[in-house]
Amino acid sequence: MYISHLSLTNFRNYGRLELELSPGATLLYGQNAQGKTNLLEAVYYLATTRSPHAEYDNQLLNWDAGQSEELVVVGRLVAQVQTAAEMKRLEMRLILERNGRARQGSFRREALVDRRKMRLMDLLGHLRVVLFLPEDVQLITGSPGERRRYMDITLCQIDAAYCRALSQYNKVLEQRNALLRQIAEGSGSLDVLPVFTDKLVNLGSQILRRRALFLAELARETQRVHYELLTNGRETIRLQYVPRLAGNGTVEEESVALGEWLQAAEASLATIKTRLAEAVRQAQPADIARGATSVGPHRDDWRFLLNGRALSSYGSRGQQRTAILALKMAEISWMTAVTGEQPILLLDEVVAELDAQRRAALLQTVQSAQQAILTATDPAMFTAEFLANAVSLKVENGRISYAESTGSPDQ
Ligand SMILES: Nc1ncnc2c1ncn2[C@@H]1O[C@H](COP(=O)(O)OP(=O)(O)OP(=O)(O)O)[C@@H](O)[C@H]1O
Ligand SMILES: [Mg+2]
Repeated sequence: MYISHLSLTNFRNYGRLELELSPGATLLYGQNAQGKTNLLEAVYYLATTRSPHAEYDNQLLNWDAGQSEELVVVGRLVAQVQTAAEMKRLEMRLILERNGRARQGSFRREALVDRRKMRLMDLLGHLRVVLFLPEDVQLITGSPGERRRYMDITLCQIDAAYCRALSQYNKVLEQRNALLRQIAEGSGSLDVLPVFTDKLVNLGSQILRRRALFLAELARETQRVHYELLTNGRETIRLQYVPRLAGNGTVEEESVALGEWLQAAEASLATIKTRLAEAVRQAQPADIARGATSVGPHRDDWRFLLNGRALSSYGSRGQQRTAILALKMAEISWMTAVTGEQPILLLDEVVAELDAQRRAALLQTVQSAQQAILTATDPAMFTAEFLANAVSLKVENGRISYAESTGSPDQ
């Protein structure tokens, strides 16, 4: 798939942008703070309904527009997406409404596919991307929450049922936790708890199973890329699923064994459900005491092992970067295999950080992608051959122009 046209209104430092894009590689270059990353963020946002950076979605609204006295401020992202089968128009609206004196106002989002309003979740799957940022190394060293977020966003792009289950799970979890707190305070009823527990276990086991399968597939491909293309057979990488189904005092090995069991083909949904139900039951007294659910997929984790050791504790910076590169390259081929169509690659400033062999491997992937958008402060880090085959666009203060060498703009 590829995006043929992108239009932004009041998004970050883009007041108004109309941009034609072509298949193949597009290089966005320009000085710091001009809008390169913001453009990748816009595409990622249309694909996932999430920002990789912003804590709150209203931070995406152009702040000059947000400062205006208008009662309604609308940010708009629109992409024309061409797939093998069809052309789709995807739109996301960021709407800030002020009523009277309230300075903050209320903020909401709307999603449209071919100009018809949809649930935000229904935007997913029409545009699929793989985003690669320098800070992705934090997937290795950061918190379990960041790793769960990565799994969820990646899976949601290709599996609508997973995404629905996840969203329902989070709601049930919130309701169950609220009830646990009420029970602890003496105002809630224990009789109602099984209703929420059953729902939690049903949805939770679907999520555990899907994640286990996903990680197993991704692990195989990551290992292959890492071994064959990036380290000349010198190093072996593994992704290990570490679900926590036994409360706070869980022994590490127990979680690892559980992960392996989940990934084994014989772990059917029914057996996972039984196991999760048992874990939730055992944790119940402690959960009531602390007013929160301590076991389930919301406590999941996964990690990288390099030659059998935790990459987060023992890996060098270069080894960590190489592992992330392998993961991203694997994500691309995994997504292509699962959907039958190549995702769009979004690479932010990552080429500069790689040595010659790894850079070559990544650029090989970029060149075989149907569409890739890269950013760099300095185009000189790319080979002349690469530049000859790419469209170069200059980004300057929220405006984009064609570089002299690649022909004139068509608007
Ligand atoms: N909501 C917003 N409204 C207006 N401008 C914003 C908003 N959010 C961020 N910006 C500004 O957008 C500018 C461009 O940011 P961006 O991250 O895209 O830069 P960049 O070209 O990728 O630079 P670098 O090379 O430093 O990574 C920054 O100056 C930032 O302050
Ligand atoms: Mg940037």
